[in-house]
Amino acid sequence: MTRFCLLFLTICLYSLPGFATGDAVKGEYVLQMGGCISCHQTPKRNHAELGGGHAIKTPFGTFYVPNITPDPDTGIGGWTDEDFIQAMTKGISPEGSHYFPAFPYTSYAKMSQADLIDLKAYLDTVAPIKNAVPNHDLSFPFNMRFLMFAWKMMFFDDAPFKINPDKSDQWNRGAYIVNGPSHCGECHTPRNIFGALNADMKFKGNPVGPDNEKIPSMLPQWEKADFLTVLRMGMTPDGDFLGGSMGHVIKRTTSKLTKEDLHAVATYLSEYE
Ligand code: HEC
Ligand code: HEC
Repeated sequence: MTRFCLLFLTICLYSLPGFATGDAVKGEYVLQMGGCISCHQTPKRNHAELGGGHAIKTPFGTFYVPNITPDPDTGIGGWTDEDFIQAMTKGISPEGSHYFPAFPYTSYAKMSQADLIDLKAYLDTVAPIKNAVPNHDLSFPFNMRFLMFAWKMMFFDDAPFKINPDKSDQWNRGAYIVNGPSHCGECHTPRNIFGALNADMKFKGNPVGPDNEKIPSMLPQWEKADFLTVLRMGMTPDGDFLGGSMGHVIKRTTSKLTKEDLHAVATYLSEYE
């Protein structure tokens, strides 16, 4: 009888609208793949929390990255899974306004619904932080959010990730991680004057990356084994260690990948045409 009641209760809870059905443990892994903490960190407290406030300098002005903890006033407390999926894959807030592509939803649009629902389940479990983040400080006309509508019409491809049937499962998994959650091209691909990625130069390096960092091509002529070493511990075949923002990507993302996912990314990079 008790067992029946429990089962009944579980079914009721899961069928409530908006009740998190994702797997928070898997969601934490998705968060690492997504490098969310690098941008959504809370410099005022420490750099391992998602309370926001980190400033990103771009040619268009400074963005102050928002608080994505479940705090109801200053974070994203109360967001439904649908609100979250819409923000991540369409770049649209629950109020219907358009996000700036400094939030790399242009890549996150390729993430699977399952990964996003798990990620949201994880975000629901983090401790809420009350931290009101300043408004972005952008120059005219980039400060006009509604213009993002036109930008998206021109530059945003919100089609979901497509499997390439001519390639192996491992290659496809690597393609998914690199182009979706890990958004490697957002730094490694140069941008046009409107801040959109230049598809002809995909992954070939960006002389003016975020915070004016010079970013090399991520496709040096390396063997798969070289990519594995770089992604796991940051060491290049010449014995140098990668630093700058790539140091954070290695520490927070690629060194945390499972063995299978690491091999998938290295396969994709070493076979990239
Ligand atoms: C390269 C920096 C960067 C990364 C990485 C990043 N974000 Fe953001 N994110 C931003 C910026 C900047 C904004 C604000 C955009 C705006 O105001 O238009 C934002 C906005 C958001 C919002 C909307 C918040 C609100 O209050 O409306 C959510 C949700 C979000 N990000 C989730 C995530 C998640 C989850 C990840 C990891 C998978 C992630 N972000 C990774 C920069 C980043
Ligand atoms: C936040 C920006 C940023 C992101 C995101 C990023 N990178 Fe990098 N990457 C850099 C920078 C900066 C360097 C140069 C670091 C140095 O020289 O110390 C670099 C260097 C590299 C190199 C070495 C290139 C060479 O010739 O030495 C590889 C390979 C690479 N990145 C792969 C990746 C992969 C794979 C991803 C996604 C998982 C990724 N990067 C995401 C900024 C980034």
